[in-house]
Amino acid sequence: MFTSLWKHIVYPPKSVSDKKLCEAFCGKWVVITGASSGIGEALTLRLIDAGANLFLIARSEEKLRQLCDKARAKGCEVRYKAIDLRCRQELDACCKTLPEELPSVSYLFCNAGKSIKRSISSSIERMHDFDRTMDLNYRSMVALSLALMPSLREGKGRMIYTSSVSSRYPFALGWSAYHASKCAANVWCRTARRERKTLGVRVQVAYLPLVHTPMSDVNETYKNLPAYSANEAASILLKLAMTDKFRYKPWWAI
Ligand SMILES: NC(=O)c1ccc[n+]([C@@H]2O[C@H](COP(=O)([O-])OP(=O)(O)OC[C@H]3O[C@@H](n4cnc5c(N)ncnc54)[C@H](OP(=O)(O)O)[C@@H]3O)[C@@H](O)[C@H]2O)c1
Repeated sequence: MFTSLWKHIVYPPKSVSDKKLCEAFCGKWVVITGASSGIGEALTLRLIDAGANLFLIARSEEKLRQLCDKARAKGCEVRYKAIDLRCRQELDACCKTLPEELPSVSYLFCNAGKSIKRSISSSIERMHDFDRTMDLNYRSMVALSLALMPSLREGKGRMIYTSSVSSRYPFALGWSAYHASKCAANVWCRTARRERKTLGVRVQVAYLPLVHTPMSDVNETYKNLPAYSANEAASILLKLAMTDKFRYKPWWAI
């Protein structure tokens, strides 16, 4: 009883109606990174139901194919690119072809991400952890946003970044790589917001709290804590994309 009340207060239920989604997204081109799992997969499924046209990006090709089959069965136009966003050659090639394939884009959800918990003292010979986390959580978001900027301008579009509320707090031990990459992305988005007049594209950030997904559930402690579902997190991102607010943050986040 106490736990469910506490969950209700800290994680008030989040939803968005299919009708509203349909009005906002039907027939629009939406690019989603990290579409194969967790929050990105939930986002993709809601947008399929809303009749959006989708361009899905992640590494798991089989999963992307299955989502594309679902989308086609619902009459959506859909394409995918199975790439490792940490690989600069693959990312560069994608950034080159994407604007030609999609000259007009309404929404770019930069959602692919990786979390890693390892203390700095345990990372002495692991510089690659910092490079990989930065490449995925920060660099791929910037590269795709830059590449798609003309298409987003054409589609009067916007970029929505999936950040973490933990990047707004005194930093927890062991999360230096993850928090540094999320903070770098936050700063880029906040600058893009201030440059909006010259940029011509709206940039938004969702500082999500804990969400139960394959990423967070590997941590036994988090697995048993109250949290949003992937579907609720998708509702938060979709609702944000339907407003002109710069950010979502939980009510309790100072
Ligand atoms: N879960 C939480 O509590 C929480 C809280 C705040 C913010 N977030 C953020 O939410 C976003 C989504 O995370 P999630 O919780 O939904 O995790 P998830 O279920 O593990 O999903 C991560 C997604 O990113 C993709 N991805 C990972 N590495 C990739 C790579 N190298 N190249 C291309 N795609 C890659 C994965 O696809 P493949 O494996 O198929 O490549 C997957 O689709 C992340 O940015 C995360 O930081 C999560």
